[in-house]
Amino acid sequence: MTQVAASILAADFGRLAEEVRAADRAGADLIHVDVMDGRFVPEISFGTPVIRAVRAATRKPVEAHLMIAEPERHLDSFARAGADRVLVQVEAASTTHLHATLLQARALGLEAGVVLDPATPPEAAEWVLPLCGVVLVMTVNPGAGGRTFLPEVLPKIGRLCAMGAALGHCPRIAVDGGISLANTGAAIAAGAEILVTGTAVFHAADYAAAIAALRGGSDRA
Ligand code: DX5
Ligand code: ZN
Repeated sequence: MTQVAASILAADFGRLAEEVRAADRAGADLIHVDVMDGRFVPEISFGTPVIRAVRAATRKPVEAHLMIAEPERHLDSFARAGADRVLVQVEAASTTHLHATLLQARALGLEAGVVLDPATPPEAAEWVLPLCGVVLVMTVNPGAGGRTFLPEVLPKIGRLCAMGAALGHCPRIAVDGGISLANTGAAIAAGAEILVTGTAVFHAADYAAAIAALRGGSDRA
């Protein structure tokens, strides 16, 4: 079944624990924490203390999407803060030695995943697929919530699945950015198994109805 990851970037930070608990109760399968450093992306968001606070508010898996330079310097701290999974950008502007960074994450007991920016070809992830539980295909340029979904990146998903099949290891595919009822059907049809959503959950009047509708891939719910 399609999973929904609630991205706290769109939550009310003044009531963060309450917002995480509300998303948990509403049926979110996991909580997605966007770490931004003002270098890999222009904005600065939050880091270890917020991961710790999110961890304390839910038993659901917590994943950290690392939009930062040199993520290898922080993996230990994110693991100790209680993250279950880290998602590392494949671009060299983030980490120079991607394979080593993913091995480091796994050695810390974290599940590893990689992230592809819209301009990054799926082949950039090919030789690290066996280390990954998840590949996240960005459907907006990273760095902010509320951006417009880019349908042209969806064909990457089929290419990733074919590469994974050839290697005998198919990570789950996630999509992140601009996900709404207008495009969740297309994303699921293209092969996405995890929908990362900020605005579409935390700006909804009814989080449970929003999550159920997104998961269903249409506005039926
Ligand atoms: C964007 C982040 C996303 C963001 C998605 O750089 O990686 O996780 O929170 O937010 P929406 O769903 O509002 O596009
Ligand atoms: Zn994200």
